Formats: sequence, structure tokens, C-alpha cells
Amino acid sequence: MAWPMRGAAALMLLAAIGFARTTAAPPAAHLEPIGDPDPKDRQALVAVCGACHPVNLIDDNVRSYADWQETVRSMAERGAKGTDEQFERISNYLYLSLTALNVNEAAAEDIAAILGIPAASADAVVTRRETRKFASIADLATVAGVPSGQLEARKRRIGF
Ligand code: HEC
Repeated sequence: MAWPMRGAAALMLLAAIGFARTTAAPPAAHLEPIGDPDPKDRQALVAVCGACHPVNLIDDNVRSYADWQETVRSMAERGAKGTDEQFERISNYLYLSLTALNVNEAAAEDIAAILGIPAASADAVVTRRETRKFASIADLATVAGVPSGQLEARKRRIGF
């Protein structure tokens, strides 16, 4: 069974960042609900991560969510400074905009969030792959409620 990528891992990251700072902040109690990328998430990335290098160093990559968590942790060790809210927003941005998604393995919750499709359509993706795995973007677009334009825009993040 596939588990959503977020949750415990993100809380551990916030705890690790709190630990890396000289003034230990309490770990955030919960994550914001997953939704469309909020412009403020991108602003947090630019403010915190853009302090040392251009953010296209980040935009050029697609990684697993676990690898992004590790990247952020290592940048905090190098001295990246931000509030818990900023780090939470950065995690949200990385998850919704730069995280790799294997549609034949991911949890329905991750499929819905990362493809930006309704939960019912993500469930339909999971049901379909149980009988036949997806092999291409065109194949994925045959599922009701999965618009091909939306897939095209996310192409580099989608794997099979
Ligand atoms: C205190 C300075 C600093 C801040 C702030 C910072 N970085 Fe970095 N980052 C570096 C340095 C130095 C390098 C290049 C050294 C290296 O690649 O080992 C780097 C390289 C990178 C790379 C390319 C290398 C890799 O890991 O693939 C990525 C991606 C990256 N940073 C992401 C981030 C993200 C995301 C943030 C915001 C959470 C961030 N950085 C904030 C210092 C910083």
C-alpha cells in the first residue's frame, strides 16, 4: 500500500531544522492542508533559499519528496534561515511544484495533489492501474477528470 509522501517526514524535517537553529523552536503541530500552490509559498522559497543562490538552481530539479526534505535539511545546516511557517511553505512548494510522481505507485492523495485533480479522479487512476499499469501521458489522460493539458504542464514530474 502506498502512503502519502507528506506527514511524518515533514514534521521530522521541521524538528530537524528547529534542532539546527540556536534557538530551538517547537515543531509545528500540523501541516497546512494540501492545496494549489499559494503564491506565498513561492515567495518563502525566494526569500529563504534565494539568500545564497539563484532559485533556478532549485527549479531545475525534480526530486522525490524525501530527497527534497534532505536537501532542505542540508541547506538549513549550511545556514538557511527562516521561520517555521516559511519552511512549511517551502516544503509545500517543493511538494506541489517540484516533486516526482510515479503514477503506478503513488498514494491517491499524492496523485490528486501533484496532478491537481479531484480526489475521485485520483481514485480512478489507482483503480485503473490495478488491472493495467500506465505507460504514457496519453494513457493517463484517458482517465475521466484527468485533463491532458494539466498533464502536459506537469510532464517532467510524471513517471511510470
Ligand atoms: C546559507 C546559504 C544557502 C541557503 C540559504 C540555501 N542554500 Fe542551497 N546551496 C548552498 C550552497 C553553498 C550550495 C552549493 C554547494 C553544494 O552544492 O554542495 C547550494 C546548492 C543547492 C542546490 C544544488 C545542489 C543540490 O543539492 O542538488 C539545491 C537544489 C539547493 N541548494 C536548494 C536549496 C533550497 C531548497 C534552499 C532553501 C530551503 C536553499 N538551497 C538555501 C547554500 C545555501
